[in-house]
Amino acid sequence: MVTNIPFVVFDSPEAACRQVASEIAQLIRERSSRGRQTVLGLATGSTPLPLYKELVRLHQEEGLSFKNVTSFNLDEYLGLNRNHPESYWTFMHRNLFDHVDILPENIQIPSGELADDQIETHCAEYEARIRKAGGIDFQILGIGRTGHIGFNEPGTPIEAKTQKIHLDELTRRDAAPSFGGIENVPTEAITMGCGTILKARRIALLAWGSKKASIVREAIEGVITDQVSASFLQTHPAATFFLDREAAADLHGVARRAS
Ligand code: F6R
Repeated sequence: MVTNIPFVVFDSPEAACRQVASEIAQLIRERSSRGRQTVLGLATGSTPLPLYKELVRLHQEEGLSFKNVTSFNLDEYLGLNRNHPESYWTFMHRNLFDHVDILPENIQIPSGELADDQIETHCAEYEARIRKAGGIDFQILGIGRTGHIGFNEPGTPIEAKTQKIHLDELTRRDAAPSFGGIENVPTEAITMGCGTILKARRIALLAWGSKKASIVREAIEGVITDQVSASFLQTHPAATFFLDREAAADLHGVARRAS
């Protein structure tokens, strides 16, 4: 069976995240030693939590500095104030930014507080800021059960740029518990596009648990289709899936060895 995207299988999310965090730390240290910024593309949701925990540990215990890091988050719910407990702005500060030495002016998260007539300009400016920063060096992704990366729901074209999207019903259902009911989950979001994501020089997609197994298989071993945005990663020269055993259970291909 052809494996169209390299993947590595670990005993636990924590073990996978130690490897991803170590790759990120190496990149930051190497670029910092040459006086260069490192541009990270960051995801939210439950999947990257162990990764952020490990990056915080590397900062607190092993002196990893984020002073030379610029970050761009993938997405934000539209209609949420940044201080809303479920906003991605709150999530990122609570789980990473408040615990490391990243400079506030280097943190970029799409705004969820936009009037309709501000959205297009905001999205174009977000793209311009990524370009001005030199592009994304390392992009972290999760995957939704609709196959979305960022919030690029089925039907989003491969070349899409940062834009407003409508959230799929399944995505809203998955988010319902943390919002205390589906009626409280926003219906729209701003997301980096598939085209924006695919320009990152290195991409690590993380997925855990049996609920992700079938979509992980479609993304890696299925056809490249706009019905599964993550399948577009088959076209990327340096994308890797980091999986636990449950998320990898439906794959037929052979994993790279976790080292
Ligand atoms: C979050 C994002 C989404 C999530 C995906 C998985 O910034 O862009 O693509 O990565 O919905 O969510 P979790 O990790 O909660 O299963």
